[in-house]
Amino acid sequence: MKSFELSDMNTAQVHRYLQYAIAPRPIALVSTVNRDGKVNLSPFSFFNLFSANPPVVIFSPARRIRDNTTKHTLDNLYEVRECVVNIVDYAIVFKVNQASAEYAKGVNEFDMAGLTELPSVHVKPPRVAESPVQLECTVGHIMPLGKGPGAGNLVIAEVKLMHLRDDLLDDAGQPIQENFDLVARLGGDWYCRTTDLFQLPKPI
Ligand SMILES: Cc1cc2nc3c(=O)[nH]c(=O)nc-3n(C[C@H](O)[C@H](O)[C@H](O)COP(=O)(O)O)c2cc1C
Repeated sequence: MKSFELSDMNTAQVHRYLQYAIAPRPIALVSTVNRDGKVNLSPFSFFNLFSANPPVVIFSPARRIRDNTTKHTLDNLYEVRECVVNIVDYAIVFKVNQASAEYAKGVNEFDMAGLTELPSVHVKPPRVAESPVQLECTVGHIMPLGKGPGAGNLVIAEVKLMHLRDDLLDDAGQPIQENFDLVARLGGDWYCRTTDLFQLPKPI
């Protein structure tokens, strides 16, 4: 076993080792708008569900390790506190990866990735039509975790409206896990797909 004091490691190495170990991570494909209504779309795997009542998801646009700049998603959320968290399945993961490229401010990644804007009901940012699950959210707290390169910013988003593709529910309204065909991020360029599912009943 090798042990590492994180204070002896550089941020890129910390980031890399933790990303390989804390995996798989679900991917939020987040659409936002700035105060002029310009649309942005970017994926975030520092993302999860944290509460059902209120329904809260959290994701983290981090400061770039390279130059300590902030992501457009974060800048937009400080201007308009709404977003859509679009869930990523295998069918769209290649386009989602394209949306993660560093385009100039104001560039709409829907166009760059070949994804389709669908108007939202409650919020200004559009949904991703190709995404199997779209969560319209309002953003409350944004909590910076530091000021240096690599520092995360916890975006606490409350889900107001959930859109689910028809085939994800059976006739009784129960979700069919196999049909979600989700993907997740691991370390480096690794991804996984939910094709190796098993059930584990809870102990009595
Ligand atoms: C699958 C995937 C997951 C990502 N997860 C994160 C993340 O959790 N936090 C982050 O800051 N960047 C993450 N990135 C990188 C951002 O998507 C990338 O920096 C993007 O250019 C940010 O766009 P923006 O500046 O338009 O917001 C991820 C990229 C990919 C492809």
